[in-house]
Amino acid sequence: MSEPRRVLTAHWDDPSVIPLAGYEAAGGYRALRTALGMSADELIQLVKDSGLRGRGGAGFPTGMKWSFVPRNTGKPTYVTVNFDESEPGTCNNRELVEREPHALIEGAAIAARAIDCHLAYIYIRGEYLWQGQVLQRALDEAYAVGYLGRDIMGGDYDLDIVLHRGAGAYICGEETALLSSLEGFRGQPRLRPPFPAVEGLYESPTVINNVETLMNVPHIVNNGAEWFKAVGTEKAPGTKMFTISGKVERPGNYELPMGTPFRVLLEEHGGGVLGGKAIKAWTPGGSSTPFLTADHLEVGLDFESVMEAGSLLGTGAIMVLDESDCMVEAARRLVEFYAHESCGKCTPCREGTWWATRVLGRIEGGYGRDEDLPLMADVGENILFRAFCALADGAVSPIQSTLQHFMDEYEAHIREGRCPVTGKGPGHHDAEPAPDAVTFATTGPFEIQGAPT
Ligand SMILES: Cc1cc2nc3c(=O)[nH]c(=O)nc-3n(C[C@H](O)[C@H](O)[C@H](O)COP(=O)(O)O)c2cc1C
Ligand code: SF4
Repeated sequence: MSEPRRVLTAHWDDPSVIPLAGYEAAGGYRALRTALGMSADELIQLVKDSGLRGRGGAGFPTGMKWSFVPRNTGKPTYVTVNFDESEPGTCNNRELVEREPHALIEGAAIAARAIDCHLAYIYIRGEYLWQGQVLQRALDEAYAVGYLGRDIMGGDYDLDIVLHRGAGAYICGEETALLSSLEGFRGQPRLRPPFPAVEGLYESPTVINNVETLMNVPHIVNNGAEWFKAVGTEKAPGTKMFTISGKVERPGNYELPMGTPFRVLLEEHGGGVLGGKAIKAWTPGGSSTPFLTADHLEVGLDFESVMEAGSLLGTGAIMVLDESDCMVEAARRLVEFYAHESCGKCTPCREGTWWATRVLGRIEGGYGRDEDLPLMADVGENILFRAFCALADGAVSPIQSTLQHFMDEYEAHIREGRCPVTGKGPGHHDAEPAPDAVTFATTGPFEIQGAPT
């Protein structure tokens, strides 16, 4: 098994780093002290030089994002940590914080220093009750010794960090919806531009970064840009937390260099496909990223390689499906998630995801028609890039990628009136019963009234 450099997980086997004393003993808060002695420009340049790219999904260069924050606008600036983590398949931020909460606080404080922010927020997913307690305890400890608050570490820099709990809505992970939610409004995305770096929280310049992104920052300050770049790929340096789940022997979070072939993660770390079965499909970056297949085992897990293979690295959350899984069911279940989580602001997403679940359910249930396949493709095309935010694009990923790679499975469902993989027969559909679903369960094939034709 390859043993790569462990950075974010170096102390995962050592619970003594959870309380402040243990974290300090392991070198914690040394980077913040260094950062306080650096100018904002020096800090931003260091992070730019390191090539660190955001781990929240889009892979945007972190130093560049920080450099977009305008100076001397007369307004406050804000750092907001995105700890919403609600995408199906993702859970690395949770474990990172559970095992080393002060590393997030230190990373956020350094980011704050870089943009001259004196009030930062950590927006945590509502369901993460325990992780919220762990973080709050760590924040209290940091305040108690003067690492946060007034004149931190004996200097003249003030910084408060406030933990803000969301109420459990996936859309609140989208950065502008997060800001709306933080301001007390309904969590719905806002039009961009202006981008948050220029006009974000309370219409003031705001940097929003993912938990994993910020946890890399203290290590970059301690070890330098060249050290960071020595691992990973040229365009995507550093290590990445990969979450592997589903049909795998050892599901969990693994830290590996960017660019590690998927096969290495699956076989050497994840222990291979559960029960020795054959892999059928996998998502490289959570449920919003198009499925890849068994033909893509050698794809390197970095932004560029995954994109070249036809998908997106996203959050690095890999869900594995094996030969016994029905891809129509997989697509239906994922699209149902997006239909449920759609914030309702715009029509292609609000209506399109709902219709997609109905048509997918019809095919899965054994009542599909030949015209359903072009209809599904058409619904997908009419959502993609036509909705207000990327949630809708994420909903299209399972539709288009299963149509692309598993068309034969769709066709067999329609031809045979049953699943060719699981054998589940007509009427099978374990989705929430909606009125038309009830109709078909009791009377057989049905028409979706008003369905797009
Ligand atoms: C629907 C949706 C949900 C998102 N959820 C998260 C999330 O839970 N955590 C996160 O860091 N980024 C999430 N993002 C991405 C953020 O909008 C943003 O790009 C990210 O927080 C920026 O941080 P980074 O530059 O450190 O990656 C989501 C985006 C969308 C469209
Ligand atoms: S795409 Fe969906 S989640 Fe995004 S704004 Fe429109 S309705 Fe809301």
